[in-house]
Amino acid sequence: MSKKVQISRTITFITGNQHKVKEARGILNNLGISLEHADIGYPEIQGNLEDVARYGAQHVARRLGKPVIVEDAGLFIKPLKWFPGTYSSYVQETLGNKGILKLMSDIEDRYAEFRSVVGFCTPKTEPEVFLGTVRGRIGYREKGKHGFAYDPLFIPEGYDKSFGELDREEKNRFSHRRKSLEKFALWYKDQE
Ligand code: IMP
Repeated sequence: MSKKVQISRTITFITGNQHKVKEARGILNNLGISLEHADIGYPEIQGNLEDVARYGAQHVARRLGKPVIVEDAGLFIKPLKWFPGTYSSYVQETLGNKGILKLMSDIEDRYAEFRSVVGFCTPKTEPEVFLGTVRGRIGYREKGKHGFAYDPLFIPEGYDKSFGELDREEKNRFSHRRKSLEKFALWYKDQE
């Protein structure tokens, strides 16, 4: 077990994705943590979401000399053997949502998950990681203009609307990012 961290009410979120910053700010502010943002980039090693988040958080915390969080996420589609998974960003830029729909045109099993891993680290401690998952399915067409990337494709379990049809507040209530950030916030507050 790593030693307790020095608590600060402000954390710096390292990401180049403005959508993620807005979502994370909404979630963490409600939990009493305020968020600064820095878009400085960090090496993304080969590995699963946890490996990427752990390495990234440690790298940036040491470099900036302050506590940071990073987040690595992806869409995992079961009948495609959990593709695109850790390749989600590249696949979004190349195949895009239309390409995913094409790949799945003859597939009846539509089960998919969004996963998010938050990595937290301070300059002097080892990294901690927090996983959040939301279950759902891939629709047969893109729906909605909210959110980003795969949101118009993903219909969360128990809903018939896609993430693209939910506004930020609603997505934030139960998204993968909500769950990983909430786990982080509860752990973080417990360090006091
Ligand atoms: P990243 O490497 O954590 O930035 O995420 C990988 C990719 O997964 C992103 O570029 C998006 O294409 C996709 N992704 C992650 N989270 C979400 C989300 O909440 N909605 C839609 N797409 C997402």
